[in-house]
Amino acid sequence: MYRKGKKSYDVDRYCFRHEIEQMFGTSELEKIHKIEECDFGVLNMETDQTTKLHKNFYKKVRESNFLEEYKKFLREVIFPQFNEPLLYQKIPTFRVQVPNNLSVAEFHNDKSYSHSPEEVNIFLPITDAKETYTIWVESEENLGDYSPMNAEYGEYYIWDGANLNHGNKINQSDVSRFSVDFRVMPYSKYDDTNVKETVTTKTKLKLGSYFELMEVDDD
Ligand SMILES: [Fe+2]
Repeated sequence: MYRKGKKSYDVDRYCFRHEIEQMFGTSELEKIHKIEECDFGVLNMETDQTTKLHKNFYKKVRESNFLEEYKKFLREVIFPQFNEPLLYQKIPTFRVQVPNNLSVAEFHNDKSYSHSPEEVNIFLPITDAKETYTIWVESEENLGDYSPMNAEYGEYYIWDGANLNHGNKINQSDVSRFSVDFRVMPYSKYDDTNVKETVTTKTKLKLGSYFELMEVDDD
């Protein structure tokens, strides 16, 4: 079982930042709060996926090359770590944490949000993500000893967000953090007899809706 591991990847091969810069029309993602009006208040359960920044990402992601880069990353970087048929989140979840704000409304574990405890999370920062502008996570279930998942662009965490409690602090820096996160799960662990819906978008957590299947020889 994964708890938390930080790894790095080749940013020249998987051009996530370039694609997000194109979507937001700036190379200065860390200053997005100075470029765009960010008057949506401290994010809550209703707003943490629906600000204009989120809407911009979800609108543009399908017509960008981001999903191609994402699938290449899954195939070449994540899949070999499992090497068995793997469910993966079809559209990664977009996060942005501007100064004096959160990116996720409350501390939680994903299993309490209807996710399977068998899911494995990947946290992929698009900008640096550190201290009060990253995710804080405990080291063991319900231990509450939160520490920050500090990472630079080019690093990612593979971790047990299904079971470990995690959340944000108010960003006390003057930079914005962009990231995506997504979930994978060995197909052998998938049970479609009792799938529920995501809390935010009410998407069924099943193959064909929230998840796609990656097999050994597929693309
Ligand atoms: Fe979560």
